[in-house]
Amino acid sequence: MKSVDTIIYDIKELVSMEGPNRARFGKEMSELGLKHGVSIAIHDGKILDIAENETIKKAYIARDFIDASDYVVMPGFVDPHTHPIFVNTRENEFEMRIMGKTYVEISKAGGGILSSIKAVREASEDELFELAKERVLKMIEYGTTTIEAKSGYGLTTESEIKMLKVIRRLQHELPIDIVSTLMGAHEIPQEYRDNREAYIKLMEEEMMPEVMRQGLAEYVDIFTEAHVYGIEESRRILRKAKELGFKIRMHADEIEAIGGAELAGELGAISADHLGACSDEGILAMKEGGTIATLLPATLFSLRAKSYARARDMIEKQLPVAIASDYNPGSCNCDSMQFVITLSCLKMGMTPAEAICAATFNAACSIERNNLIGSVEKGKQADLIFLKIPSYRFIPYHFGSNSVDKVMKKGVFVK
Ligand code: NIG
Ligand code: FE
Repeated sequence: MKSVDTIIYDIKELVSMEGPNRARFGKEMSELGLKHGVSIAIHDGKILDIAENETIKKAYIARDFIDASDYVVMPGFVDPHTHPIFVNTRENEFEMRIMGKTYVEISKAGGGILSSIKAVREASEDELFELAKERVLKMIEYGTTTIEAKSGYGLTTESEIKMLKVIRRLQHELPIDIVSTLMGAHEIPQEYRDNREAYIKLMEEEMMPEVMRQGLAEYVDIFTEAHVYGIEESRRILRKAKELGFKIRMHADEIEAIGGAELAGELGAISADHLGACSDEGILAMKEGGTIATLLPATLFSLRAKSYARARDMIEKQLPVAIASDYNPGSCNCDSMQFVITLSCLKMGMTPAEAICAATFNAACSIERNNLIGSVEKGKQADLIFLKIPSYRFIPYHFGSNSVDKVMKKGVFVK
């Protein structure tokens, strides 16, 4: 008998997500690798074995035994698109949208991203850390065990670096994995409104090289949209990012189809996100470029959009789909992947199984962590969530409250 840290036994329903180690597409997105009445042996934060209850019982002795006969157990949610570093919330804009203003109108009138900049520039790293910490702890409560987090509310080299250092500190101090993205191209700062070229040069010649030198971000992201960065500017900035050694992701075709998805495919972006207005050509280009479509239905919900990203067409055209919260102070103050799963079903017609694949394994692929997380398979990190519900189908069906009872990160219960 081998001794291990933990055995989780008699699992009512295990959503294993086992399958090929690459983003799942088409019909694969419906295959959750369900298992019933099995046990998992965990050691050193990793999944050592998964087998029938009797087999595990005979092979291992554990320090902790956890009875999971009442639980659905599944991989922790992976949220591959968040903006959790900010100071002030913007519920005033929420109210303005209710009164009929659009996101773009509010942005053009000086609200939007720009209204988050001043406070972030003035805040100390410690202040930003304390604020973000509370938010990230809440995400963990809701079952998220890995996130991607972006800078983008500073828009100077110094303040973007400050945000990225906060992200690094969150990764070190909280029981969550965080993948870091530089988003200096989230907006054009006010002081460069009449000289966009100078800000783009600053990103190219100072901000991106310095962030790379300090090893503070893995990806560069950009807000490619008619009122922010157009296609030519985006191509230029992202090419430079690649040249410097960053991998790229994009906010593409959220509101208008200006060719953002096509550009993502052309440049081999790892992920193109939003895609509320993405064209057929865009879907094709992403598929050809190996780009994952990361859809953010909670944002369009919060913007009161009439239509959503065409998840069904994407799945039918064999394009891998992931989903994320887009948690941010403006367009989407949502920290719950459970709610995002519900919206993916109700607003984009994804089945519960497809939405769960998109929120776990494909989300892990969207941030290139599928070797480590996103499924419950031998050798993977023991990032697991426990839900006292009848089956996985209950997750989207029951919304507005938290169905996650326990959260395990690298083999340790953190909720
Ligand atoms: O993903 N689209 C760009 N960025 C965010 C909005 C951020 C904000 O409004 O502060 C988003 O929706
Ligand atoms: Fe975003």
